[in-house]
Amino acid sequence: MSYNLLKGKKGIIFGALNELSIAWKVAEKAFEEGAVFTLTNTPAAIRMGTINQLAEKTGSAVIPADATKEADIEQVIIKSMEVLHGKIDFILHSIGMSPNVRKGLPYDALNYNFFLQTLDISALSFHKLLLFTRKHDAINEWGSVVALSYIASQRTLAGYNDMGDAKALLESIARSFGYIYGRDKKIRINTISQSPTLTTAGSGVKGIDTLFDFTDRMSPLGNATAEDCANYCVTLFSDLTRKVTMQNLYHDGGFSSMGMSMKAIEQYTKSFEECE
Ligand SMILES: NC(=O)c1ccc[n+]([C@@H]2O[C@H](COP(=O)([O-])OP(=O)(O)OC[C@H]3O[C@@H](n4cnc5c(N)ncnc54)[C@H](O)[C@@H]3O)[C@@H](O)[C@H]2O)c1
Repeated sequence: MSYNLLKGKKGIIFGALNELSIAWKVAEKAFEEGAVFTLTNTPAAIRMGTINQLAEKTGSAVIPADATKEADIEQVIIKSMEVLHGKIDFILHSIGMSPNVRKGLPYDALNYNFFLQTLDISALSFHKLLLFTRKHDAINEWGSVVALSYIASQRTLAGYNDMGDAKALLESIARSFGYIYGRDKKIRINTISQSPTLTTAGSGVKGIDTLFDFTDRMSPLGNATAEDCANYCVTLFSDLTRKVTMQNLYHDGGFSSMGMSMKAIEQYTKSFEECE
């Protein structure tokens, strides 16, 4: 059901690779809610993924950009304002990648060049994006910028590796820039800390199936899906959440406030019985 929450709003959506991507679901929901937007991803992701299908469905232009390259990000902003005929109201940063995770290097044997790439792709790209939107005064007053995070920024989760550090930096950038952008332009900046989600990036995390099952058992409402996340993003892009800024918002079915659940105890007990 559509509420027209984003009627008349213009946006930029980073990070839709294929129909599993959280950014894909956000684009579909934003379209349903009346928004117009551009889509962007790396040239390789555009070639290998299916973003063009999404663009066709939502009537969006696709602008290739590597989010680590300042010139690319600046072009996305300039071209988006051209294509959309004016300033932007919302931006989704849905970008994450760790070469260390991809190569299976554990946290105590990281490759530091890879580590820097992890931070650049997954966190500094957010800073660059905000810096260039500000330089071009590209976001309307009361606009909203959301980046996607994960609880491994705050708590240690085995296997999440240097992405935990990248997410901690991402959340900190949201607060630091949130102050500046809020003070000067009344623009909101938040991160959503999403449940484990079975996407291409999610599948790269070591033990994702077990983690997915664990968090689902631990969360009173169960894991939040990509569609649930898209609905939440839409509320944050809308005018209904104008005074929410500089927050890391948990969207995880309650997981972040749990210690132990009956469902998890039952599963744990079963594995003890099997051992005996
Ligand atoms: N899947 C999960 O379990 C989960 C949980 C919490 C948060 N997140 C976060 O959600 C976001 C989206 O991930 P997803 O799960 O939808 O997976 P996804 O693989 O569909 O999306 C990741 C995107 O990052 C893009 N990307 C990688 N390097 C880039 C670069 N240099 N420039 C521009 N784009 C680049 C990829 O092309 C891809 O589109 C990420 O920030 C991820 O960390 C995911």
